[in-house]
Amino acid sequence: MSCDFLALANPGVLALHPYQAGKPVEELERELGISNIIKLASNENPLGLAESAKKAIQNQLSQLTLYPDSNGFYLKQAIAERFSIQSEKITLGNGSNDLLELIARVFVHEHDEVIFSQYSFVVYPLVTQALNAKAVVVPARDWGNDLQAMLAAITDRTKMLFIANPNNPTGTFLEADELERFLSQVPENIIVVLDEAYTEYTPVERRSPSLAWVDRFPNLVVCRTFSKAYGLAGLRIGYAVSHPDMAGLFNRVRQPFNCNSLALAAAQAVLADEAYLAKSVALNREGMGLISAFCEKYGLAYIPSMGNFITVDFAKPAAPIYEQLLQKGVIVRPIGGYGMPNHLRISIGLPEENQRLLQALKEILAL
Ligand SMILES: Cc1ncc(COP(=O)(O)O)c(C=O)c1O
Repeated sequence: MSCDFLALANPGVLALHPYQAGKPVEELERELGISNIIKLASNENPLGLAESAKKAIQNQLSQLTLYPDSNGFYLKQAIAERFSIQSEKITLGNGSNDLLELIARVFVHEHDEVIFSQYSFVVYPLVTQALNAKAVVVPARDWGNDLQAMLAAITDRTKMLFIANPNNPTGTFLEADELERFLSQVPENIIVVLDEAYTEYTPVERRSPSLAWVDRFPNLVVCRTFSKAYGLAGLRIGYAVSHPDMAGLFNRVRQPFNCNSLALAAAQAVLADEAYLAKSVALNREGMGLISAFCEKYGLAYIPSMGNFITVDFAKPAAPIYEQLLQKGVIVRPIGGYGMPNHLRISIGLPEENQRLLQALKEILAL
């Protein structure tokens, strides 16, 4: 006898579609029977694993029969020291996706309202929907978060606001003063999740003092990741910084061993590896300069980006361009699902990868 699982499922889950990840290199290799494929689709770090992380992973191999440290003591201590915060404010996650979901699960009830911007990270609607809460999507301003409109969207039922800075998939950036003004106007009983997955790519002098703000705005939680500038996307590790009482709640709900030993050790090592971080950021800046100069030269509109990706407007449906790039072994990210059918999001690669992308674009667009 078969069972109607659809009738049994949580209604919020029924309305969801699986997360569309960037196309894996191996999949395109199988489809096209070609090698030498480059992937500029998932905002990964093109530098490869830091030597410091590699060593830390090797040192952990003999320990893999044991469960990881459930509390991630050493990594938390390293993060606390690095940013001069209390360890009690830190929650570790299996990537920051894990934390975004955990935070929502702790606070959001059925029928609560969750506010986020048009063109914001796909996980925000996903977790909202899965909890049977109501997504309130605020129209973007210049492709980014319109903080005034988000404040205006707050109602008695608002429980949470998600803001990514820089924003994905558009790369837009909010300055510290506008964010601070916004935070001071959000009622204390509404949780603000500030997702800083790409913060390490932004100029230090323009970064918000977001971790210090947690003391002033106890309803703020800041999420960061080791997947981008620290180059550990495959290991899955991120952290949230919040009021210790909030962290205590997250600690009740998270899986006891949500971060594996290799990720904990590698993150601790790479956090101390300032040379790797500086190299990642410099490489990104150089590639960003190259691709934006190309767009300007050939009259392609793009959204100025503070992340490790650039979103280009082809002024016509971009799906055929995406397909033609695939044929040339270049994987980028179509973002029609975000309501941006004329754009492609391109992660910044190594210099030779960026050159190959630009050459492919020249040929496809007959530039
Ligand atoms: C804005 C934003 N937040 C969070 C994440 C999640 O990253 P991870 O789960 O790898 O830490 C991403 C990944 O692309 C992102 O773009």
